[in-house]
Amino acid sequence: MEKNRFVKEIYGLLEILTGSARQSGFSWDFRIFLAHRIFRIFSAPRFVLQPVDLEQVVNQLKDCVDLTEKILIAKKKNKEADIADKRDPEISMQYLYGLAWAQQSDREYYHGASHFADRLLNSNLDISFLKGAKCLDLGTGHARYALAMVHLGAISVVGIDFSNYCLDEARRRLNFYPKEAGKIKLLLKDVYKLPKNMNGAFDFVCANGFIHHLPDPVRGWQAMFDCLKKGGHAFTFVFADGGTPWWRAIDLMRELLRPVPLWFSHKTLEGYEVSGNQIFNILDYSYTPIQHRFERGYVEDTLHNIGFREIHFLTGGVIHDSVLRSRLFETDRQLYGNSEIRYLFRK
Ligand SMILES: C[S@@+](CC[C@H](N)C(=O)[O-])C[C@H]1O[C@@H](n2cnc3c(N)ncnc32)[C@H](O)[C@@H]1O
Repeated sequence: MEKNRFVKEIYGLLEILTGSARQSGFSWDFRIFLAHRIFRIFSAPRFVLQPVDLEQVVNQLKDCVDLTEKILIAKKKNKEADIADKRDPEISMQYLYGLAWAQQSDREYYHGASHFADRLLNSNLDISFLKGAKCLDLGTGHARYALAMVHLGAISVVGIDFSNYCLDEARRRLNFYPKEAGKIKLLLKDVYKLPKNMNGAFDFVCANGFIHHLPDPVRGWQAMFDCLKKGGHAFTFVFADGGTPWWRAIDLMRELLRPVPLWFSHKTLEGYEVSGNQIFNILDYSYTPIQHRFERGYVEDTLHNIGFREIHFLTGGVIHDSVLRSRLFETDRQLYGNSEIRYLFRK
């Protein structure tokens, strides 16, 4: 796609900031401050019903460059020790999501759940298959989508996750929904080691924001296929990098926070009174050890090769969904592209 001149400038500024982030002259506090600032610059416009103003993004990034340069000049001497968390990626992920999910307010949790139906309905897809369905939610986290499935008529939902931190958080949330909770079973399981009795057992399998965190994503989609009954429906949402500045900004945040332990970022953001959902997003994007970003064609070919059919790309969404915004506004297409993609498909 023909790049807008502001987008070219945005890339250049992100490059400069990433170079600065690799230097060791910044305190942890400043790294967190800047990661939060970058995320606000890129994410705040997604919640307003007008096209993103690219010139404003450029000017805000220039302010960041200006600030980092001043700090680097002022701090010639590096006194900072690199004591980043050096945990095994699997354990980091289990811990991260337990902590990250706990940040959302009850309202944000409930909204997150309602987005599931909104996205399908706004894409003109029929969701009546959920009525009376036996559902499986892979990588359920705090079980917001499991809750949504019950609201949409599922007779039962099994939510699996390999993190006990997440399942504790899911149980705490579901305490507030006793009627729905009666239909939801939460199991501590690794998607790569699902029990044989799950084979062909479900009418609907969901993998929301899950597959892109797996070391072997294809095995994750294959698990969806295996657990589905013939004719059953499946839903997946994954990150996609269409070559827009959005993911370069996320890379910059990851670079900034690399030396900063997760707990320190969490406590600092909380201290700044950053909203729970923002803390969740900053920690999620910056600290997850595995974050694949796929090409749309690759996802579609892979699903097809596994044996799925009727693969529908979701074109509708809610206000902050890049797919919707990119369709509505040219500047958003330039800044975000389709950075998250969703599919409904069948076995
Ligand atoms: C970004 S969260 C998505 C949570 C939920 N689907 C949602 O959208 O609200 C990814 C979840 O996958 C879980 N997870 C990652 N790898 C897993 C694995 N191998 N087996 C089971 N769960 C896993 C994490 O613990 C985390 O809760």
